[in-house]
Amino acid sequence: MDVSGALGITQDIALSEVIPQSLGKRQYRRTPSSQGAYRETTESPQMGIGFSREGEGDRVELALFQPCFMNTAKTADLSPRTDLVHYRQQFPALAAKHYFNYGGQGPMPEAAIAALETTQRQIQQQGPFSNQVNRWLGQLGADLRQSLGSELGVGADTLTLTENVTVGCNIPLWGLDWQAGDHILMGDCEHPGIIATVQEIGRRFGVSVSTCPLMATVNQADPDQAAVDVIAAHLQPQTRLVVVSHILWNTGQVLPLTAIADLCHHHQPRSVLLLADAAQSVGMLPLNLEETGVDFYAFTGHKWLCGPAGVGGLYIAPAALDQVRPTFIGWRSVTNDSSGHPIGFQPNGQQYEVATSDYPLYASLNSAIATHAEWGNPQERYQRICQLSQTLWQRLGEQPNLRPLRTTPPDSGLISFEVLDNGEPSPALHKHLVNQLEAQGSLLRTLLYPNCVRACLHYFSLETEIEALVAEIQEVLAV
Ligand SMILES: Cc1ncc(COP(=O)(O)O)c(C=O)c1O
Repeated sequence: MDVSGALGITQDIALSEVIPQSLGKRQYRRTPSSQGAYRETTESPQMGIGFSREGEGDRVELALFQPCFMNTAKTADLSPRTDLVHYRQQFPALAAKHYFNYGGQGPMPEAAIAALETTQRQIQQQGPFSNQVNRWLGQLGADLRQSLGSELGVGADTLTLTENVTVGCNIPLWGLDWQAGDHILMGDCEHPGIIATVQEIGRRFGVSVSTCPLMATVNQADPDQAAVDVIAAHLQPQTRLVVVSHILWNTGQVLPLTAIADLCHHHQPRSVLLLADAAQSVGMLPLNLEETGVDFYAFTGHKWLCGPAGVGGLYIAPAALDQVRPTFIGWRSVTNDSSGHPIGFQPNGQQYEVATSDYPLYASLNSAIATHAEWGNPQERYQRICQLSQTLWQRLGEQPNLRPLRTTPPDSGLISFEVLDNGEPSPALHKHLVNQLEAQGSLLRTLLYPNCVRACLHYFSLETEIEALVAEIQEVLAV
């Protein structure tokens, strides 16, 4: 075992004080090293580190070491991981489990959890309804639009605060002035809520709807070009809108948004608008939306941004703003005359915000965004996500009974794989595996299309979690 550094602590401390039970699975070993002396170690796969205590008589020395279960080739540099181990302690959901469901919901940092209560308390203490409180709540919204704008590379005025991705997609979907005979083109990897909305628009307005096979492009020689080619081949003269996800939630493929926007805008005989479902991309990818040319970009704060459930947003490119009429309308959407009568819509993204909201969510999401910035910039975070994902993808691919959906290294934090039974993917084994892993404290999910298991890695995932997951999968499948 490699002792990496003495901590200079010489008093007799119980190791349980160093790695508290709440930090997960621990392994203790006590080995006599010579007459009267002892060595005791504790390892936390959850934290990715271990501590040892060596003593003889009254002399006790505490040291940090790299546990033997870790793959030393992949984790030779202790310092960044040690920083991360410390950093992760501010996410209570990460304690005592291995979390791989960031694409479902991100874990909230303590500061974001605390913001919910402190904001609510301040509202109650100073109001709840008063001029001062109302001004402040307006400022919370403005602050959130500002920090989301920085994350997305767009001006705050182009943003609408929503409840989630689905509401963000519904705003342009219902707000465009549909004519019978128009056509909507969707990818084949869209989320059920978005598919259902598009289908209902088709039914209500006589709009035709078709899908194009994007899923199969992930394993082609040039997936970006293949995706653009597939969309180009399925555009029709009557197409008005293309709906695709920026990152496909099943295969994890990152679609080339700029090239797709360019294709749509140059389509003949008329330009096509592009709506991107950004559920899996905001908080994962470094973004500069203005440069991409996308028209509508709907996202949420509760997945990769690790904010509270219930607040998300929509970006509408300035050039597309006047094409979308507000569908749900309220006091936040409008401007008033001096008698308080509505005289028009807000000249920006706020025209789609409706009325009273759960404002502490705004402060909370803002705080989650600030937490990520403390660790690194968006490029650094994405780079680490890709490194980790490529490690997991490679380790899964080395197992004879597992098959990652992608044949080339992933470019996002979504890694999906099939469990094989006699060489064929087995839906029963997918369910069994996810249930068993969950019972052991490792949280993943199954997907139905294609039938597979999905593991997600964030920038603060640990290499040790990857190793532990691969070992746990093999243990479960061996039984
Ligand atoms: C691609 C995609 N779109 C939409 C959604 C729905 O998100 P929300 O509940 O924020 O509307 C999800 C959620 O998992 C998703 O993965």
